[in-house]
Amino acid sequence: MIKKCLFPVAGYGTRFLPATKSMPKEMLPVVNKPLVQYGVEEAIAAGMDQMAFVTGRGKRAITDHFDISYELEHQIAGSNKESYLTSIREVLDKARFTMTRQREMKGLGHAILTGETLIGNEPFGVVLSDDLCLNNGGDSVMAQMVKLYKQFRCSIVAIQEVPADQTEKYGVIAGESLKDGLYRVDDMIEKPSPEEAPSNLAIIGRYILTPDIFDILRDTPPGKGGEIQLTDALLQQAKNGCVMAYKFEGRRFDCGSVDGFIEATNFVYENVYKAQ
Ligand code: G1P
Repeated sequence: MIKKCLFPVAGYGTRFLPATKSMPKEMLPVVNKPLVQYGVEEAIAAGMDQMAFVTGRGKRAITDHFDISYELEHQIAGSNKESYLTSIREVLDKARFTMTRQREMKGLGHAILTGETLIGNEPFGVVLSDDLCLNNGGDSVMAQMVKLYKQFRCSIVAIQEVPADQTEKYGVIAGESLKDGLYRVDDMIEKPSPEEAPSNLAIIGRYILTPDIFDILRDTPPGKGGEIQLTDALLQQAKNGCVMAYKFEGRRFDCGSVDGFIEATNFVYENVYKAQ
């Protein structure tokens, strides 16, 4: 039912300089697979088959990754090295890819609005590939959210409890608890100080958005950091109708930070790569 997934991938990746000077941060490999491919595989596992990328200058490697490399295919055809291409071939078979460029960096909300041309008037998933979400053996985080969407038909954000001193790194929600791990959002603040934070429930980079978000984003003034914030638009959407927040099952690694990236690498090496 939800066919499209939007990937805002225009950000600079300054925390990983110099590695990200000429390489997109989304192409950093966790063991042998680029971060963005984990996100695409998660979306495919949730039944989505159209991947929409909001890219920027210097991000061509992402476009190339989701295309055939004719030379490489030709070079290793029939050799025992072909198996190394299995995972990306599967991805290419199962999904189509569209791209548009965000010309100026004006925040996550602006990136999502830039993607409107690829999404149109239908509900869609959003994956921030910095957040690597794994649920070994169980439903992918996006698949869990699609199930909920079928029930509630409104925007859904993934959340996780964080220590009180970490709220400044996230959008933070407050809401009425409907059942274990599910909240109806009534407040949402982008990167609040611990004093301002309405709870310790932080938004993680997985969303399902209904398309009315685009009109709301068009009217959303710059917020935290002078950027157009998705969090502010979602609060408006919650006031207009309904936004749910869902404490997902699985593990999330903050691969936008060096510590989280190393933790993810160790975890994937031990639990996924070696287990193959
Ligand atoms: C973005 C969102 C924030 C969310 C976070 C999840 O922030 O603006 O609300 O909690 O992603 O990773 P960023 O990390 O891009 O600064």
